[in-house]
Amino acid sequence: MTARPAVLVTRRVFPEVLERLLPHCTVEHNAEDRPWTPEELRARLAGKAAAFITPTDRLDAAALQAAGPALQVVANMAVGVNHIDIGACDRAGVVVTHTPGVLTEATADLGWALLMAAARRVTESERCVRAGQWAGWAVDQFLGLDVHGRTLGLLGMGQIGQAVARRGAHGFGMSVLYHNRNPLPPSVEAACGAQWVSKAELLARADHLMLVLPYSPETHHCIGAAELAAMKPTATLINLARGGIVDDAALAQALDRGRLAAAALDVFEGEPRIHPDLLRCDRAVLTPHIGSATRTARLAMAHLTADNLLAVLAGQPALTPVGQWRRPPHAGAVA
Ligand code: GLV
Repeated sequence: MTARPAVLVTRRVFPEVLERLLPHCTVEHNAEDRPWTPEELRARLAGKAAAFITPTDRLDAAALQAAGPALQVVANMAVGVNHIDIGACDRAGVVVTHTPGVLTEATADLGWALLMAAARRVTESERCVRAGQWAGWAVDQFLGLDVHGRTLGLLGMGQIGQAVARRGAHGFGMSVLYHNRNPLPPSVEAACGAQWVSKAELLARADHLMLVLPYSPETHHCIGAAELAAMKPTATLINLARGGIVDDAALAQALDRGRLAAAALDVFEGEPRIHPDLLRCDRAVLTPHIGSATRTARLAMAHLTADNLLAVLAGQPALTPVGQWRRPPHAGAVA
């Protein structure tokens, strides 16, 4: 009888998903759910055939080396894979999988919540109420920005961008502009009511600019001081994508100086640390990386991660390998 493959599950996952692994694998599970240090992760990866990981785990070349030759699959419970050295995995013959599709609508919903909260000063005014500082209705209190009928800008236009675009065009009657490396096919543009423009035009025209592009060295700080200065001072900026795409220090300064009306961020450079100037900024809505955090979406992500992991260990093709998942030619990163 051959030994069951050893699997590392790096964070606490739903019991029903763990139970699907147990008949097939020997599972080491981080039930305590304290994120492991890189050293702890390396030590625990040694000799594993599969790793069920999340965006809090850095799977770099050193981690792969520590895992050793038994490692067959890195199954990532997220769509973004910037924390994984894909090249090193390819060279080592390790399959990398992720969870596109199942989190699209939940993440687009959160993007919409952030946009509305920033435009209509929801968290700022709520803080005033909770602090007992609300003295009653007033004509010019917490005046915000219109959303309906305004121009929505999207930087990046994969599945999540398209889901946000549909909400804007069809739900709020917005003009939707987007920029990514390649324009969408006309039929897809029509379905989400969106029009491709250059990045410069997007920055200049958007009333609400949402970031929905993958993080990579090329997209690092692709919204910095110069880009913020090119936006309307009445605009909002929403980062639904990854920390590091926005220069958070430059953003805090732009908000502070009134160069931008408001911002909403679900992701941060160096999270869970947050730039102290953003924490002090009333016009910034800050949420703790909860884009896909509905029970339905997170359960579907965990099941898909388990499906991928079990398929590869059984010698079958992964369902959603990185780079090959029914990827339309237009879904790439921003140039
Ligand atoms: C979450 O951040 C994801 O990439 O799915």
